[in-house]
Amino acid sequence: SEVKMIRIEDAAEYVGRVVKIGVWLRQKRGGGKIAFLQLRDGTGFMQGVVSATDVDEATFKLAEHLKQETSLYVTGTIHADSRSEFGYEMAVSEIEIVGESENYPISPKEHGTDFLFDERHLYLRHQKPYATLKIRDELIRAIYDFFHEDGFLKLDAPIITDSAPEGTTELFPVDYFGKEAYLSQTGQLYAEAGAMAFGKVYDFGPTFRAEKSSTRRHLTEFWMIDAEMAWMHQEQSLEVQERFIAYLIQRVIDNCRVELKMLGRDIEKLASYTKLPYPRVSYDDAVKLLQDNGFKIDWGVDFGSPEETFLANHFTSPFFVVNFPKAVKAFYMKRHPTRDDVVISADLMAPEGYGEIIGGSERDTDYDYLKQRLIDQHLDLNEYSWYLDLRKYGTVPHSGFGLGLERLIRFVAGEDHIRETIPFPRTLNRLHP
Ligand code: 4AD
Ligand code: MG
Repeated sequence: SEVKMIRIEDAAEYVGRVVKIGVWLRQKRGGGKIAFLQLRDGTGFMQGVVSATDVDEATFKLAEHLKQETSLYVTGTIHADSRSEFGYEMAVSEIEIVGESENYPISPKEHGTDFLFDERHLYLRHQKPYATLKIRDELIRAIYDFFHEDGFLKLDAPIITDSAPEGTTELFPVDYFGKEAYLSQTGQLYAEAGAMAFGKVYDFGPTFRAEKSSTRRHLTEFWMIDAEMAWMHQEQSLEVQERFIAYLIQRVIDNCRVELKMLGRDIEKLASYTKLPYPRVSYDDAVKLLQDNGFKIDWGVDFGSPEETFLANHFTSPFFVVNFPKAVKAFYMKRHPTRDDVVISADLMAPEGYGEIIGGSERDTDYDYLKQRLIDQHLDLNEYSWYLDLRKYGTVPHSGFGLGLERLIRFVAGEDHIRETIPFPRTLNRLHP
C-alpha cells in the first residue's frame, strides 16, 4: 500500500510507523557506515539517519552525496529521540531527490549579517529566522484575538494619505495623480474617527517613516497597531496597554516555547513581564534619573538612543514614561490640567535595553486649541478639517496608542536588531531583496 505523507510537526502521532516526508536537507554529517541528515519541511526540524546496513548501496551513496538545500522525499520509520530538541528522528529507508541544489551560498559556517540579509530570500529557511518569524505569526494572531475578545472593531486606515500627524520630516511622498500624498505614518487620525462611530477600534497595517539614521530599532516600513477608545481617559488606556502586552507575552510563552528556546530567550524573565501593573515614571523623574547618571540632558529634550537604552536597562519590567514635554510631541496630545509644558502622553518602554514599544496619549478634545496647534506646527488646515470635525460634532474624551509590531517582536524574541523581526526588512540601506 501507499506510504502515508506526513509533516514533521505531526511526527509524534506516527512513532513506530513508516511514513514519507517532503524535506530540504539543511546539513549532513557522518562517515563510514552512517549518515545523519538534518532535515526541515517548513513545519519543523528532524534528523534522518541513513545506515549502510539497513539500505541498499545506491541509497546510501545517494545520501552521502546530497548537497545542502536539496529537496527530497524521505521514507522511513519515526522514532522518539529524547536527545533532539524536536523530539523525533527518522530511520530512513528510501530517498527520492526532487530538486538538486548546487553551491548553496549560506554554508554552515558563520556569515556576516549583511551577507545574510543580501540572501534574505534563502536565509528565511534557517533556524533563527524560522523561530523569530513563527513568534511574529503567533503575536499577529494574538493581537487580533485580544482586541476581538475585548470588544474592539477593526477599522482599516488608508495607506495613502495627505496627513502627516507625526511630523513632516520623515515622509515618503507619493505622486497621487499630480497631487502630493504620503505613505501613512500612523492610522491614528482615522482611528479617532472610527472611535466616534464604533467606540473602541484598532487598525493593523504597514506604516512608513523615512528614517535617515540606521539603528537597531528603526525600519522605514514597519507594522503598527493603532488602538483608539472613546469615553476613555489616559489612566484607563494605560491599563488596556499593559493588559495587552502581558496577554501577548503569555501567548508566546504558551505557544512558542520551542522557538523561544531556539533563540536562547530567557523564558522566566519573559514570564515576569506578565505581572501587572507596570510602573509609571514621569518624564521629569526620568530626566533626573538620567542626569544623576551622568547624562547631559536638559529638561524638554526628547530621549535619544543612549538615553532610551539606559532607562530600559534601569527598570526590570516594562514601564511607562508619562507626561512628555509638549514641545517634542504631536499636535493632538491632550493638555495637562495644571501644567502648560507637558501633555497627557505615555511611552511604554521594554526592559533589557529594548526601549520604546508603544507611543500613546489622551487626545485633546477642543476644536480651537487643536486648530491653533495645527497652525503652530505649520500643518495645512484644509487637510485636517475632517479631523477637526470630530471636535465639532459631539466631542468626547478619548485616548489611544500605537504599538510597533517589530519593536514588540524584538523584545519578546530577544533579538539584537529589528531587521530580524520582519521577513524582508526595509531600512536606510536596504530595499533588496
Ligand atoms: O510613537 P509613535 O510615533 O506614535 C504614533 O505614531 C501614534 N500616532 C500612535 C498612536 O497613538 N496611535 O509610533 C508608535 C510606535 C512606536 O512606539 C514604535 O513601537 C513604533 O511605532 N515605531 C517604529 N518601529 C519601527 N521602526 C520605526 N521607524 C518606528 N517608528 C515608530
Ligand atoms: Mg514614539
